[in-house]
Amino acid sequence: MCGIIGYVGHQAAAPILLGGLRRLEYRGYDSAGLALQGPDGQLTAIRAVGKVLRLTEKVKAELAGAPAAAACGIAHTRWATHGAPTERNAHPHFSGDRRLCLVHNGIIENYRAIRARLEAKGHVFISETDTEALARLIGEHYQGDLRKAVGQALAQVEGAYGIAVLAVDEPGLMVVARKGSPLVLGLGEGETLVASDAAALVAHTRRVIYLDDGDIAVVTADHIDIRDRHDGIREREVAELGWDPGAVEKGGFEHFMLKEIHEQPESVRNALRGRLDAEHGTAVLAGMATSARDLAEIQRILLVGCGTSLHAGQVGEFAFEDWADLNAEVQPAAEFRYRNPLVGSRDLVLAISQSGETADTLAAVREAKVKGALVLGVVNVVGSAIARETGQGVFIHAGPEISVASTKAFTGQVAVLLLMALRLGRGRRLSLERGRALAAELARLPELIAQVLAQDAAIAAVAARMAAAEHAFFLGRGPMHPVALEGALKLKEISYVHAEGYHAAEMKHGPIALLTPGTPVVVLANRSPQLDKVWSNAEECKARGARIIAVVSAGQEGADLADERIVIPDCDPLVATIPAAVALQLLAYHVARLRGCSIDQPRNLAKSVTVE
Ligand code: AGP
Repeated sequence: MCGIIGYVGHQAAAPILLGGLRRLEYRGYDSAGLALQGPDGQLTAIRAVGKVLRLTEKVKAELAGAPAAAACGIAHTRWATHGAPTERNAHPHFSGDRRLCLVHNGIIENYRAIRARLEAKGHVFISETDTEALARLIGEHYQGDLRKAVGQALAQVEGAYGIAVLAVDEPGLMVVARKGSPLVLGLGEGETLVASDAAALVAHTRRVIYLDDGDIAVVTADHIDIRDRHDGIREREVAELGWDPGAVEKGGFEHFMLKEIHEQPESVRNALRGRLDAEHGTAVLAGMATSARDLAEIQRILLVGCGTSLHAGQVGEFAFEDWADLNAEVQPAAEFRYRNPLVGSRDLVLAISQSGETADTLAAVREAKVKGALVLGVVNVVGSAIARETGQGVFIHAGPEISVASTKAFTGQVAVLLLMALRLGRGRRLSLERGRALAAELARLPELIAQVLAQDAAIAAVAARMAAAEHAFFLGRGPMHPVALEGALKLKEISYVHAEGYHAAEMKHGPIALLTPGTPVVVLANRSPQLDKVWSNAEECKARGARIIAVVSAGQEGADLADERIVIPDCDPLVATIPAAVALQLLAYHVARLRGCSIDQPRNLAKSVTVE
């Protein structure tokens, strides 16, 4: 879950690499490093512990007065997996003779065996990383042809990698390769870039090539040659990025998270655009390239994902049951991939992922395909591994999500799952009349979200009165239970408050013991068939001294026991999950801001988890 970037061209590489690392910092930010290659092929490496800013300062200091600016280089921002975040473990890593070096995103699973073999040959390792074993292994095979040496070394490697390699003897030539970790090439005028994410390329070009697993490419300033490990030529299409550099800027907001929260009327409008058929009360989802007949054959929906995407799946589960009369089940992807799931050709597996790179979800997709299920992706990043592995599905069109804490992707995922449930429902027992009513409710979403955003200041005031708490609870019933889980996750992730989400009825079976006077308990108490039950659960907590913060629907009576109210627009209980989630995102954001936390890059986290 690191970020790598490479540049070969005619401009000074250092500022381009450092700018790209800043764009990739959400992938990992405990240490960073780069290697610059002069026209004579010589490699200069600079590493630093901490954020990219620290590396930038060091590069400035060390390169001050350097003769010619190198026009070729590779760089890396790290999320440590093997070896603590130290300068020694930061990338790039070198071969034994220091004639080549590389940066790597992923994990070399059999690195211990490789290391032992090389140590037996006299290698003395400098770091504790898995990556150094690969660098030294490539060095062992290097006879002047870098691509060949990389291919030979990768043939012995197990695990996941996105790498960029430079060699002293081949100045201006970079070899990159991927398996399991994302890698995108950027085609510029007389320059070529490579990065873990297109977000680091959009400032330089919109023409990109998404590399596939097993691709090894030789890249120079004006030439790209992609092959497989056996030297077979691989053709890859050039894609055009649909968003502009501004999409990866803060746009005047203090944090990417706040910007992305406020983008949700537009991002959800994008998720709905051209997909609502108000006349027939249904949804049109081109990506579900499956015939109406095949869709009618589906007997069960299985939703898989991790973290926030899993919570979106849990909301979807209610919609498929309620709107489409379909059996629906949610499974954590990390469990699904190993439990030998009972899945077959009459099952539709929906793989939900913002990044499209999460290792457990990707593996779950592959397992479901092996089992013969119909597998569709609900993904944000176009060109990502899960989007290509599923080959069909629905993009949520939320645009780049930079902040580690997922916000607009969650509401986009839920909106798309509601559209899918409407589509499948209308193919079954959902009436035209109800379909039209639900389609109309969905079309209101951008406005409903805007109404919640308009209360940003009021929610900040509620946050101010809970920011000192070290523990908090989020309670909900029905589709609001996963929203409670998501609210707790957001608060945990960015403010480090120990927050737990529970089904409201579960509190009295144990967790209620944790309540002490003043403990904040956020209750999702919007208009729903279970509202009375929710209030009695809130009452039980209030009786133990809890401070009740209730999320209620506009115009709703009887919220007297609440100490604080956050009002969301009144709408269908399933549709309400989206404005309610936005309210909880703002609550978490303001608590974290008041606690002075690093909101966009919380400790110990990374944006896409590409290892198990
Ligand atoms: C959410 O805020 C977290 N960043 C994390 O739980 C995330 O949702 C999870 O890692 C799944 O990521 P994905 O949607 O990119 O697959």
